[in-house]
Amino acid sequence: MKVDVLLGLQWGDEGKGKVVDVLTPNYDIIGRFQGGPNAGHTLEFDGKKHVLHTIPSGIFHEGKMNVVGNGVVIDPIIFNREIDSLEERGVNIGDKLLISRKAHLILPTHRLLDAASEQAKGKKKIGSTLKGIGPTYMDKTGRNGLRVGDLESKDFKKRYNTLREKHLSMLSSFNFEFDLEPLEDEWLKAVEKFKNYPLVDSEHYVNGHLRGGKKILAEGAQGTLLDIDFGSYPFVTSSNTITAGACTGLGIAPTQIGEVYGIFKAYCTRVGSGPFPTELNNEEGEAIRKAGNEFGATTGRPRRCGWLDLPALKYAIMINGVTQLIMTKADVLSEFDSIKVCTAYKYKGEVIDYLPFDVLDDDMEPIYEERAGWKEDLTQLGSIEEIPAELDSYINYLEEELQTPITIVSVGPDRTQTLRRTIASI
Ligand code: GDP
Ligand code: IMO
Ligand code: MG
Repeated sequence: MKVDVLLGLQWGDEGKGKVVDVLTPNYDIIGRFQGGPNAGHTLEFDGKKHVLHTIPSGIFHEGKMNVVGNGVVIDPIIFNREIDSLEERGVNIGDKLLISRKAHLILPTHRLLDAASEQAKGKKKIGSTLKGIGPTYMDKTGRNGLRVGDLESKDFKKRYNTLREKHLSMLSSFNFEFDLEPLEDEWLKAVEKFKNYPLVDSEHYVNGHLRGGKKILAEGAQGTLLDIDFGSYPFVTSSNTITAGACTGLGIAPTQIGEVYGIFKAYCTRVGSGPFPTELNNEEGEAIRKAGNEFGATTGRPRRCGWLDLPALKYAIMINGVTQLIMTKADVLSEFDSIKVCTAYKYKGEVIDYLPFDVLDDDMEPIYEERAGWKEDLTQLGSIEEIPAELDSYINYLEEELQTPITIVSVGPDRTQTLRRTIASI
């Protein structure tokens, strides 16, 4: 058995949570491999909407294990809240959830540093979710971080205090006001509860089950264009959101990767700052935001909206080795007479069909191909055979351009609003 990976090909919020939930019946174990509570993964079924931040999106299915991998960063406060909210809704967590001892902890001072750093950047701010993600990964790579497994050690408090002091000294160099005490009290209380959840050496757990023939799906967070190496740096998150991140974030060898599901919206969105070549700062963009309800699942911020960007999508497919594509939110474009797709950019006077090193919106003008819209409600469709001819033609066009099969088309937020396109090997 191999590990299949599902990850975002754009700037996040492609619908990963929904589709992981739809695919979960085909798997035994779902593992998150990077990111943390900056993620907001939304699922809808039986008329209810759920948003997950750290917990894998397989949690609603009985008999499936959910692993929070070593590559994830965890804020115990948010984690406990997530569990409480699931339990209040009657979701049985039971023994379905495991946490890697090697996952790093987000401290209250990481959150303060995130906020202080963003404030200091002024207009150049990243637009971080302010969950402490960047500072926590900085401590991980700087070899100062605290890991979940450290909670089991006797000198945890001492190590916590050492890191806290370091952070306080860093904070003193910012012109930033804060009150650590209430944050810290809440965090230390949360840790006491958090450390009772089942902790595992998840790389052994995952590889043992792989050898035993179990099926594993690795769930990505954020998206390829937010990847620390290949995203629109510095307007990115601080982890590897790409397929390679599943290897480092769960302890899986590259030879063990099977299918790579790349998920994308039929258009583009971005929340936070940074380049966005096809952004629509006009009524069309507003219409997409309204129809797609494009507001952040974690921060509630309005998402920036624009047309589909093929050079960016091709890049993401290349970096991830995508074997199957999943297109979401086609239903959102139903109100448009015609749909635009960016096929190249005019960049500093030249036509290019790739993302340049420095993506500066002012120097980039997208070149669009215009296609007929489908002008039909897709949300009630029962099978792919029922889709309008214009959508069928759009899908075929994208497959041809992207040289990758589109095997799932999502036409609404609910589990049931999912059309399988070919007999996928899933
Ligand atoms: P994720 O971070 O990739 O899991 O995506 P988010 O949950 O942040 O954002 C996706 C949003 O679109 C959520 O509100 C989903 O409920 C919703 N959604 C997912 N797929 C579809 C779809 O095909 N059509 C529509 N209209 N909404 C969808
Ligand atoms: P999911 O998993 C969309 C964005 C932030 C900001 C940048 C850095 O739901 O797709 P960070 O808090 O990571 O330091 O913020 O990345 N960002 C996301 N945008 N979806 C997400 O996650 C995101 N997680 C982070 O808005 O621009
Ligand atoms: Mg999201």
